[in-house]
Amino acid sequence: MLIQRPDPIRPSEITSESVFVKRRALLKAALAAGLLPGTMARAQPVTTSTLGDLAAANGRLENVSPWADNPSLATTPYEYVTEYNNYYEFGTGKGDPARYAHTLVTEPWSVEVEGEAENTGTFTLEDILRPHALEERIYRFRCVEAWSMVVPWVGFPLGDLLKRFAPTSRAKYVQFFTLNDSEQMPGVRSRVLQWPYREGLTIEEAMHPLTLLTVGLYGRVLPNQNGAPLRLIVPWKYGFKSIKSIVRIRFMEDQPRTSWNMAASREYGFYSNVNPDVPHPRWSQASERPLGAGLFASRQPTLLFNGYAEEVADLYTGLDLVRNF
Ligand code: MTE
Repeated sequence: MLIQRPDPIRPSEITSESVFVKRRALLKAALAAGLLPGTMARAQPVTTSTLGDLAAANGRLENVSPWADNPSLATTPYEYVTEYNNYYEFGTGKGDPARYAHTLVTEPWSVEVEGEAENTGTFTLEDILRPHALEERIYRFRCVEAWSMVVPWVGFPLGDLLKRFAPTSRAKYVQFFTLNDSEQMPGVRSRVLQWPYREGLTIEEAMHPLTLLTVGLYGRVLPNQNGAPLRLIVPWKYGFKSIKSIVRIRFMEDQPRTSWNMAASREYGFYSNVNPDVPHPRWSQASERPLGAGLFASRQPTLLFNGYAEEVADLYTGLDLVRNF
């Protein structure tokens, strides 16, 4: 699979999702013809105030440079991405997060960094974001419940942030935690999962250039229901690994516990790489239903590592992917 990193486009070209697909097609054509306009601006690092001001105004993010592993991927309609969600802290219904997540307070926001790293402590969202230029990345996203979508996320490689904390040689894993506040999150009063929601990656997975720390989608600030202000996107793993509203990052020597594995260890392993050959104990993972494609649209075959095998298969050399599901 080809990874393209074209020049950034001008903020003025970041327009509404309705013209998004058209813009993408134009960009693709321009790239193919080697005709990128010379006026395109360089991506600028973002600041919290940029995020905050934009969210207060119209939610648009500026200075985002485009990136696509496959520019021909058709993106899922915005309404599906933002109204059909899993965010159990706001309820287990797919419509609950969009309905109830307005109570989440995302500013001010800070992230605690702890464990096996030299630079630990509490960092404001501004500390976290300041040095990083935002990119737009169109990724396939596959939920363990066998639906899928294609989303233009906005963020930057998680590894670029993690390096700033100088992990020690004992840091073999990274664990992430979501906010746990029953005042803001009515769903945490239920015992459907153990709170706070937590996830983990090996340090190699966390440092992989495809792993994205995300602040937006469709050129806009992340809506609360999608995990504002800061979430992970790990495109070759089932969607539940992509933890939302992160408040704590812990570098660890031992493999961390994860919420879904704690809830049902036979069903949800630590790795949770998308794999059509390893069924969930209660359903097949061989195919998927693309969200927004219509009730009668045919299912699509699911691809190993969600189609990112070329980029990530090396991470698992010698590992039995059936036992390590
Ligand atoms: N993160 C938290 N904190 N709580 C959750 O319930 N659900 C996960 C993941 N991250 C979840 C979470 C699951 S099961 C999926 S499929 C994705 O978020 C859904 O992301 P989306 O709502 O942006 O599509």
